[in-house]
Amino acid sequence: MDRSYDEYKDIINTHLMDFIPNIDNKSISLYEAMKYSLQAGGKRLRPVLLLAACDFAGGDIREALPYACAIEYIHTYSLIHDDLPAMDDDDLRRGRPTNHKVYGEAIAILAGDGLLTTAFEVINKDMMLYYDSPEKITQRVNAAYQIASGAGVRGMVAGQVSDIEAENAAASSEMLEYIHLNKTAALIKAAVKAGLYLGHYDEKMISDMSKYADNLGLAYQIADDILDVVGNPEELGKATGSDQKQNKNTYASVNGLDAAYRRLSELTDNAVSAIADYYDNAEFFRELVLQLAHRHA
Ligand code: IPE
Ligand code: IPE
Ligand code: MG
Ligand code: MG
Ligand code: MG
Repeated sequence: MDRSYDEYKDIINTHLMDFIPNIDNKSISLYEAMKYSLQAGGKRLRPVLLLAACDFAGGDIREALPYACAIEYIHTYSLIHDDLPAMDDDDLRRGRPTNHKVYGEAIAILAGDGLLTTAFEVINKDMMLYYDSPEKITQRVNAAYQIASGAGVRGMVAGQVSDIEAENAAASSEMLEYIHLNKTAALIKAAVKAGLYLGHYDEKMISDMSKYADNLGLAYQIADDILDVVGNPEELGKATGSDQKQNKNTYASVNGLDAAYRRLSELTDNAVSAIADYYDNAEFFRELVLQLAHRHA
């Protein structure tokens, strides 16, 4: 595998709208609202990870593309809902007014619903191409299961619930880790595992890369929380100070910024160690997590 982050990202950006079904003109605002948030930009971390993991496991990334786009649809839906007044109440996302600011709350909720269901429509449609290949169907069912469970009630949705319920009260460090592992790491891990399942995976690879992804996911949320305090809204494309405004429990608010930086670097080391057995083959993943500690956006 010798593609860079930006090469994977370009592939995603080129094909992201390809899998959105034709929507009747009578519901065109749904299409417009979905497209608005999908095309607002974004780092495309989860689909990039999915493609890179598929490459890493010797798979064909062209065949993984529907799954990569599906996971970005799910992530984008989660951001639209996360920004709603009933949740984090944010006005800026990916450098633009949030979905509900432009289309209103009702359409924003429905655009999120549309993106989430489209993800599974796309995945199912892809599976239908492989009825005659038990091996390929198995790979796809495994990938779909990872995506569904990472996004769902034992993953991201559960984490979002705890994140909301922990507002205005001190969370234990165990609770904080539970929130981060679910609201953020679960979908990141799902992306990595789905990519491996779509390639030629083995059990050791799944287990090592899962450990990597858990640490990457926790580190990613801690970096997000640090940037909410010290970041620049222009670079981030979203407001800073949002966590304080909502009285969120974050690693930085509970333990202080210095401790958050230390934890970030510990998690980075853990992620790098988890993939040490793959030497240069895992260079992409090592680079990615090492960059995290220095990210500004
Ligand atoms: C923001 O995700 C929400 C978190 C889970 C931290 P990203 O930082 O990946 O947002 P985009 O996709 O680049 O906009
Ligand atoms: C969001 O965490 C996690 C999601 C599942 C969307 P945050 O609420 O910290 O994400 P931002 O800072 O709004 O992007
Ligand atoms: Mg939130
Ligand atoms: Mg938020
Ligand atoms: Mg945040």
